[in-house]
Amino acid sequence: MEWWGVIAQYSNTPTLRYSIIPFFVVMLIVERIEEMRRWSDAERRQGRKIAFVPTMGFLHEGHLSLVCDGKKRGDRLVVSIFVNPQQFTPQEDFSAYPRDFGRDRELLEMAGADVLLHPSVEEMYPQGYQTGVRVENLSALLCGAFRPGHFHGVATVVAKLFNIVQPHVAIFGCKDFQQLQVIRRMARDMSFTVEIVGHPTVREPDGLAMSSRNAYLNGAERQAALCLSQSLRAAEDLARDGEKRASVILVRVAREIANEPLARLEYASLCDGETLAEIDELRDGAVLALAVWIGKARLIDNIVFQL
Ligand code: PAJ
Repeated sequence: MEWWGVIAQYSNTPTLRYSIIPFFVVMLIVERIEEMRRWSDAERRQGRKIAFVPTMGFLHEGHLSLVCDGKKRGDRLVVSIFVNPQQFTPQEDFSAYPRDFGRDRELLEMAGADVLLHPSVEEMYPQGYQTGVRVENLSALLCGAFRPGHFHGVATVVAKLFNIVQPHVAIFGCKDFQQLQVIRRMARDMSFTVEIVGHPTVREPDGLAMSSRNAYLNGAERQAALCLSQSLRAAEDLARDGEKRASVILVRVAREIANEPLARLEYASLCDGETLAEIDELRDGAVLALAVWIGKARLIDNIVFQL
């Protein structure tokens, strides 16, 4: 566990919570777009490099690892918490998404964020709002086929956040591999000057990729959720033994998931790491991505092959 993990643990001890926080520089909490712009303009005028980590909150060590990375890459760090209604499909419950602003704020303060951007839905999408950013092809594949409109919502909110925060560098997790590619494409196509950094997936000690959605899992489901990382590892083993046929690798993944009674495979795909188009033969940089339902939690995971 890294230093912020240790502090986060101790910060849950009431006697220590208040003795630790005063040692950290005050973090600004910004709710208005205009205020955020003014702050960023001033920092940029002083020649400071702004790093940015967008999130939907309910922070875990995966998020905090991005925050640590952001601290190193910029002179100033902005983290946003905004549960974006536009990226939830009509079947998904936006209001049930887990939230704990008080805890998130403390964690970010301790991690040394300079600004926590926390706009309201009305601030981001005022009356009459009707504009969106669509990254056509990439958004239709993989998760996009099962969550229509999701990546349009993501691309739109991230484009808006880039305009509001005006960062030099923004950090995104490779755990959401398709999201990372959609954002890379969007930034290139829309001529944003922000550098997009992909940060490696942070996992629990037993291999489960950290996710705010893991909070939906009960004890048995938490155990069952290991089938995602285990199936990826089985695929990696096959590749190490020289197997290149996508069909063979995908059958192996499907078998691993099918062996877990609480799991239902939504999709598994072996695809090109940039276009996300399916491939028949494993090659360097290819990605194996999957989505699996465990109870009411939809979990995703992936690995990038380095051959
Ligand atoms: P959220 O799910 O809160 O994730 C925020 C960032 O943390 C994303 O870049 C995500 O890929 C990264 N992340 C989540 N779990 C991770 C893990 N285990 N290891 C490494 N990185 C991880 O993704 C979103 O929010 C939203 O779609 C957002 C980009 C903020 C737009 O609304």
